[in-house]
Amino acid sequence: MNLQLITNAEVVHKQVYYGHPRPGNGEESVEISYPTTEVVGHGSFGVVFTTTIKETGEPVAIKKVLQDRRFKNRELEIMKLLKHPNVIDLKYYFYEKDPHGEVYLNLILDYMPQSLYQRLRHFVHIPSAMPRLEIKCYMYQLFKSLNYLHNFACVCHRDIKPQNLLVDPVSWSLRLCDFGSAKQLKPSEPNVSYICSRYYRAPELIFGATHYSNQIDVWSSGCVMAELLLGQPMFPGESGIDQLVEIIKILGTPSRQEICAMNPNYMEHKFPQIKPIPLSRVFKKEDDPTVQFLANTLKYDPMERFNALQCLCSSYFDELRHAEGHLQDVVSSLKLLEFDYDTELAHLTPDQLEAVKLRLKPISVR
Ligand SMILES: Nc1ncnc2c1ncn2[C@@H]1O[C@H](COP(=O)(O)OP(=O)(O)O)[C@@H](O)[C@H]1O
Ligand SMILES: [Mg+2]
Repeated sequence: MNLQLITNAEVVHKQVYYGHPRPGNGEESVEISYPTTEVVGHGSFGVVFTTTIKETGEPVAIKKVLQDRRFKNRELEIMKLLKHPNVIDLKYYFYEKDPHGEVYLNLILDYMPQSLYQRLRHFVHIPSAMPRLEIKCYMYQLFKSLNYLHNFACVCHRDIKPQNLLVDPVSWSLRLCDFGSAKQLKPSEPNVSYICSRYYRAPELIFGATHYSNQIDVWSSGCVMAELLLGQPMFPGESGIDQLVEIIKILGTPSRQEICAMNPNYMEHKFPQIKPIPLSRVFKKEDDPTVQFLANTLKYDPMERFNALQCLCSSYFDELRHAEGHLQDVVSSLKLLEFDYDTELAHLTPDQLEAVKLRLKPISVR
């Protein structure tokens, strides 16, 4: 480690707003200081760098985005609403002006060591497969974050992909990040279909649907899981329309009914008839619950596709509920089987709630 670099790092002092209202105390802002450090991520809309807050010792990532003064920043408004163990937390934020008078919004977020994209590249490079249990723990936490996001915050992420899932490879914890494309979808209002990164785009988006639902995030999550298992993207489309070709090559041509469920405007369109390849052949080494789970997340019809809570209840995750020994320690340290009624289960009817609670419990206490 180069000590010279550390001692010479410039320390900046900023007056920042809290990311969430402070209980009791009326204070809205506080002064913090941190050494400026190197940039870790160049995203599509700005830069991300990591540092440590001097006053609290908290490691953080600071995401700096250009702020259009005419609009409220949707990413900021959404992040203020979100508080969940599997979602990156907004600790503070502040605005700053550059010498040209441009205003930048800085989001100060809790720090995670790497993205799932980097984690997968590590295994591909060795080369070896990512441990199946590690994949299962990440997928479970992803669906926990989506269940919270979709049912409590009523927010659709719209850009689920390995680069936007941050993980700690030691503890196997996962947090969803990058709410730059996220939106609260209202059934009565149309939304743009040109969102989400290509390999992970749900077929209804490729069909140009403007009345899609939170279920697009489940499709993307199925694609992420498939990629972790295969070591490469499952549907590597080279263009928007080629993306559909890649999907059809494996899942076969969608039926009339499925096309209608994705976008009724395409009902008259003639598609070449391609037979599906059974997923058990695509994922030869995986067991039945894994293959069945993928089939349920990669359904053409968004309503037939499992929702996030159905995913959590799936038998694919039973291994976590049966856990013993080391895996049990992982499951309990990540609090995987703990659910907060108000933010994770409050949307259920009393009957559904009883069934779901029973399903999500560790097997030993059922
Ligand atoms: N909280 C964080 N901790 C560590 N790294 C982060 C954090 N947030 C973002 N990054 C890194 O920066 C990259 C870009 O951040 P992201 O929020 O996805 O911005 P963009 O909208 O530009 O894609 C991420 O893929 C990740 O590698
Ligand atoms: Mg991103």
